[in-house]
Amino acid sequence: MKFTEIKTAAQILRNGGLVAFPTETVYGLGGDATNESALLRIYKAKNRPANHPLIVHIASTKDLLTWAQEVSPKAKKLAEAFWPGPLTLVLKKRSSISPIVTAHQDTIGLRIPNHPVALALLNAFGGGIAAPSANQFTHVSPTDAQAVQEELGGKIDYVLEGGACAVGLESTIIDLSTEKPILLRPGGVPKAAVESVLGESLHTMNKVPAMRAPGMHLLHYAPRTRTRLYTASNLEELLNEEEAPIAILTRKDYCNASLLSAEIIKMPNDVNAYAQALYRTLRAVDKANYKQILIERVPDESEWDAIRDRLMKASGGRK
Ligand code: TXA
Ligand code: MG
Repeated sequence: MKFTEIKTAAQILRNGGLVAFPTETVYGLGGDATNESALLRIYKAKNRPANHPLIVHIASTKDLLTWAQEVSPKAKKLAEAFWPGPLTLVLKKRSSISPIVTAHQDTIGLRIPNHPVALALLNAFGGGIAAPSANQFTHVSPTDAQAVQEELGGKIDYVLEGGACAVGLESTIIDLSTEKPILLRPGGVPKAAVESVLGESLHTMNKVPAMRAPGMHLLHYAPRTRTRLYTASNLEELLNEEEAPIAILTRKDYCNASLLSAEIIKMPNDVNAYAQALYRTLRAVDKANYKQILIERVPDESEWDAIRDRLMKASGGRK
């Protein structure tokens, strides 16, 4: 990381420009969270509907009250346990916050990312950076700088390099603005870890109105190539139904002879390694000229929740 690049990027943010930067989850498309024209440019660059709020990234828990009305004991506990890290807290917002950041909701999403480049940028800039994932709306999030260029090249002012993202999937989002904490999006911090720190269970997304966390829409985090999920029992059937060439993403080592007509792409068995590889793999497969991607379903265990959620959305909820 070069200090001059951080300084340049911070100055671009101060001038209302857009800077893509690495975080431990995925790359973000950053703008000054107090500059409405910068915020509008973020929506435009991503082609993102105006009713999808942005997460504000901050450097320190000392900044929380700049954005949130109050920091409850639960918020304090989670911030202490997981920040900097892949967790976003949704809190009641201060009335002074631009409604463009929060998409006119009365809450704001806040997070301290755990990446040296992101933290250096936040410190050099000295304010909150609104940053959605640096991809076109509904598409796969970028996990390296090259992917940011593919998604947004020409629409942003600067890209900070930071290598491949260690987590590879977006942050876990917890809504603490209501009586009972709600898991709005599974992500880098496991649900069980949050529950253990809070000492209570989380409500889950299916009980929440759809607009609350728009990443909940079916078809999101999606490759452009048609994508379906399979289990061992329906793979043959899908292979017969779908047009070749077909790419198969599987955790299995062996290759059944009947699959020889398809390209087998081996995914890691380890859950963290799988998360880190997923978007990179989807992006690579998307560039090749497959007519269809078939992805083996992942285990039912809770540690796979975030991956299962992204796979479901990548396939648009198609069975
Ligand atoms: O890991 C991440 O969270 C990455 C990195 C860049 O920090 N960011 C990210 O941002 O994934 P984005 O905009 O792609 O997804 C943020 C999600 C959206 O589904 C948005 O609706 C939700 O967070 N969100 C943001 N503010 C919210 C709020 N006040 N209430 C409910 N949901 C909110
Ligand atoms: Mg996103």
